[in-house]
Amino acid sequence: MLSEIKNLAEAFAPRLLEIRRHIHAHPELSGQEYQTAAYVAGVLSSCGISIREGVGKTGVIGELAGKGADPRTLAIRTDMDALPIEELTELEFASRKPGIMHACGHDVHATIGLGTAMILSQLSEPLPGNTRFLFQPAEEIASGAQWMVKDGAMEGVDAVYGVHVYPSVQARHIGVRYGALTSAADDIEIIIRGESGHGARPHQAIDSIWIAAQIITSLQQAISRTQNPLHPIVLTFGKIEGGTAPNIIADRVRMVGTVRSLHPESHASLPQWIENIATHICATYGAKCEVNYRRGVPSVQNDPTLTQILETASIEAWGNEYVKILPEPSLGAEDFSVYLDRAPGCMFRLGVGHQDRPNYPLHHPKFEIDESAIVTGVVTLAYTACKYWQR
Ligand code: NI
Repeated sequence: MLSEIKNLAEAFAPRLLEIRRHIHAHPELSGQEYQTAAYVAGVLSSCGISIREGVGKTGVIGELAGKGADPRTLAIRTDMDALPIEELTELEFASRKPGIMHACGHDVHATIGLGTAMILSQLSEPLPGNTRFLFQPAEEIASGAQWMVKDGAMEGVDAVYGVHVYPSVQARHIGVRYGALTSAADDIEIIIRGESGHGARPHQAIDSIWIAAQIITSLQQAISRTQNPLHPIVLTFGKIEGGTAPNIIADRVRMVGTVRSLHPESHASLPQWIENIATHICATYGAKCEVNYRRGVPSVQNDPTLTQILETASIEAWGNEYVKILPEPSLGAEDFSVYLDRAPGCMFRLGVGHQDRPNYPLHHPKFEIDESAIVTGVVTLAYTACKYWQR
């Protein structure tokens, strides 16, 4: 099985390069992946895979029927959207669209999804159960997974695998992590309403800027004193606005931020915890407080059994020295976690780093990859799928 998969991947390699470069040159922003989706659907159809278009607005689903011996359905999810970044790579297949760039490797992910579909549909022995390929839109705005799930993408799915490229791991390497891979990411808005007055007579006013400072300082300190230090939390206020002039006490401050957490217990407790601290501080000094907490995406928690299957498949395919157990999760976010509410899953990191030159990080205008990683990704996912059906 493994050698058949590797042979097919080598045979498809030039075509996969062509696909990746086409998608890279024609990036589309989140929720506007019309051409990419049509292109993906075309490739899937040409492999005889049945497709459903317009799932979650611009998403595509490919369904590869198994021979029916196993009732389970395995999903393989990749994403398709690009970022509002002006590409500065000088690649010959660089973005042809000003201000839009595949700087997060979703062009590579979509190509790997297609490559995996091409291989699994060509195996001499059909797989026992159904494989569903999810090509998701709008990952960068943490919305596409929800759109897809709402449109039934996860109905009947028993397990889901996903992949994300990772420039700090060298190409031909696979990064595996058990448990938490990425962080939960929520949005917070706090509005403080005090009372305006003369800057020289603060006792006759309620200074909402000073109260905002108290809230920010208290929250940062309270993380270290009231939250479990083994469950990391990052709270960043990225924007704060209030006041009109140097000598007028501000009657209103609005601050917005992002809240990252890895442990489901901390994640659950955060809205109430923040609201308590903010409203009590405001009440102490006579201000009114409004806290709006918006849930973003949960943390990606890799399922141990599915991670084990992926790790074993990767080691068999590439050898121990090419499979790294990642020591730490990331406080970045990934909406792959939304699928995990419906079925267990596992996302792995695919090394795309060049060996002989510096690698730019994800979301950088010069981000680019060692394209040999595409075959590595395709073989890893295809062989992991085969191993999934064997247990
Ligand atoms: Ni990404």
